[in-house]
Amino acid sequence: MKARIAVLPGDGIGPEVIAAGLTCLRAIAARFGHEFELEELPFGGAAIDSHGEPLPAATLAACRAADAVLLGAIGGPKWSAPDAPLRPEAGLLQLRKALGVYANLRPVKVHAALAAASTLKAEVVEGVDLVFVRELTGGIYFGDKTRDARRATDLCVYTAEEVERIVRVAARLARTRRRRLTSIDKANVLETSRLWRAVCQRVMEQEFPDVRLEHQLVDAAAMHLIHRPRDFDVLVTENMFGDILTDEASMLAGSLGLLPSASLGEGRRGLYEPIHGSAPDIAGRGIANPFGTIYSVALLLRHSLGLTAEAEALERAADATLAVGVRTADLVGAGGPSSGSRAAAEAVVRSLPPPP
Ligand code: IPM
Ligand code: MG
Repeated sequence: MKARIAVLPGDGIGPEVIAAGLTCLRAIAARFGHEFELEELPFGGAAIDSHGEPLPAATLAACRAADAVLLGAIGGPKWSAPDAPLRPEAGLLQLRKALGVYANLRPVKVHAALAAASTLKAEVVEGVDLVFVRELTGGIYFGDKTRDARRATDLCVYTAEEVERIVRVAARLARTRRRRLTSIDKANVLETSRLWRAVCQRVMEQEFPDVRLEHQLVDAAAMHLIHRPRDFDVLVTENMFGDILTDEASMLAGSLGLLPSASLGEGRRGLYEPIHGSAPDIAGRGIANPFGTIYSVALLLRHSLGLTAEAEALERAADATLAVGVRTADLVGAGGPSSGSRAAAEAVVRSLPPPP
């Protein structure tokens, strides 16, 4: 097939992990006979420097015209002073909103070979296989904000429609898995959470009676995640709770650098990014963990291009690479000498199956 992919390397380790992801994407194209047209575009802090804004109009236009968008990471100390007039993060929120990608899927799977890499006991994390469905284009991230020298506000807004559509995405996903959905809110305190809970309950009763629903308060969910993480299957939650809990959940897998994400809307086009940030402290050294990006490429193949066999081949190759002990520096505690980002990606390519 032919497909157009907009590539946004961004800042910090973004360009390094993107290079590794593209190595794998090109290998898949060659092996399976696809033609992927890759267009690299300025975004984030790099775009503030070169174009005076984090999401230049030409970048957004290319993303809208593409079948999928692959993003590295954005941000860094250079652009994060409290009074910075322009922030890379604002460009990311604008991009998510403009593409209408309201459903952010963040799978967390503990690889058997990496159970010892977690700071939690292996017997707690072994076998963990859960997916967060984070609402991505609403809530406190997007409400009106005010600030003067002595007072600041961030408004949190949710509509019933926003809750309905994200609950449906999560429930459909649960149907393809263990049919368990945990909805996370703070309904004992927040009005937005009380609406969330009521709407979620109604949608599930009316449309998904075959999926077991449980509501959890976000503070309790944070605890359960490290206490009995194997109990979770699909978790659905609002934007900020999802941001916080997925960083926490990444520690089950052993490193934030391993986790991919897919952000989806109504159509097929999606935005794919590792969940980690730009890690300015290690940028430019070629040691960043590329697996979060490589697994994001697999999600891109599956969700935006409908290439299931290719996605599975890449995931299996990445799993096999980890299983034989290839480790980036963030994972050396889990055995094996440390590999650079590029060597790790090349090892994944060598583990791909021969052409069909
Ligand atoms: C994430 C990140 C972003 C978020 C930042 C960079 C704006 O932390 O994707 O989890 O908060 O959504
Ligand atoms: Mg985050």
